[in-house]
Amino acid sequence: MAAQPPSGTLRLGSKAPNFQSETSNGPIDFYEYAGDNWVILFSHPDDFTPVCTTELGAFAKLEPEFTKRGTKLIGLSANGPESHREWIKDINELSQTNLTFPIVADPLRKVANLYDMIDYQDASNVDDKGLQLTIRSVFIIDPKKTIRLIISYPASTGRNTAEVLRVLDSLQLGDKNRITTPINWTPGEDVIVHPSVSNEEAKTLFPKFKIVKPYLRFTPLEVKRD
Ligand code: BEZ
Repeated sequence: MAAQPPSGTLRLGSKAPNFQSETSNGPIDFYEYAGDNWVILFSHPDDFTPVCTTELGAFAKLEPEFTKRGTKLIGLSANGPESHREWIKDINELSQTNLTFPIVADPLRKVANLYDMIDYQDASNVDDKGLQLTIRSVFIIDPKKTIRLIISYPASTGRNTAEVLRVLDSLQLGDKNRITTPINWTPGEDVIVHPSVSNEEAKTLFPKFKIVKPYLRFTPLEVKRD
């Protein structure tokens, strides 16, 4: 049997824990919000901070692309809902956008601790009550509530929304086809035939596949969305 992680540790393949919380849009139950969609859950250290402000504006601008992929966004920051609502006005003004997805209000770090959105390296990164601020975590969660991606960035470094979208595309394409995606892949570029597919099967599944090495076979693949 595979080694089991310590109880509560979230890894790829873990079930995303449910939670109830106040948000900028009122109270939510996370599973009810997610429904049958994919979800991007991403945390921020603090409201009215420079990097976070740029990030939320960028996610809001890109939301239509996530929607096309059957994916909902939900942010989190370590402040209350009223603070979030005031901050969203600045985000919209600065990024010329209209942020409508919820931002979880997590002043007590209930959700941040559940999802381990805390680090070891920046002990000074605390609020006025001494509670450690959250880092920049990203979780991609699929419609079965399985965690499919975890990325942690330090507070100092803003994320790359295009990368989050790229990984989502790779995961969704890999769920529908027996493929993997190579380094720096973007939609439209050749993908890799999954090692479990024999050359015989590949002739039917991917008529244009090419063998570069016996273990490395590329094929074009059209990205189709439902
Ligand atoms: C920021 O979003 O700019 C930020 C937040 C907390 C610590 C450092 C930077």
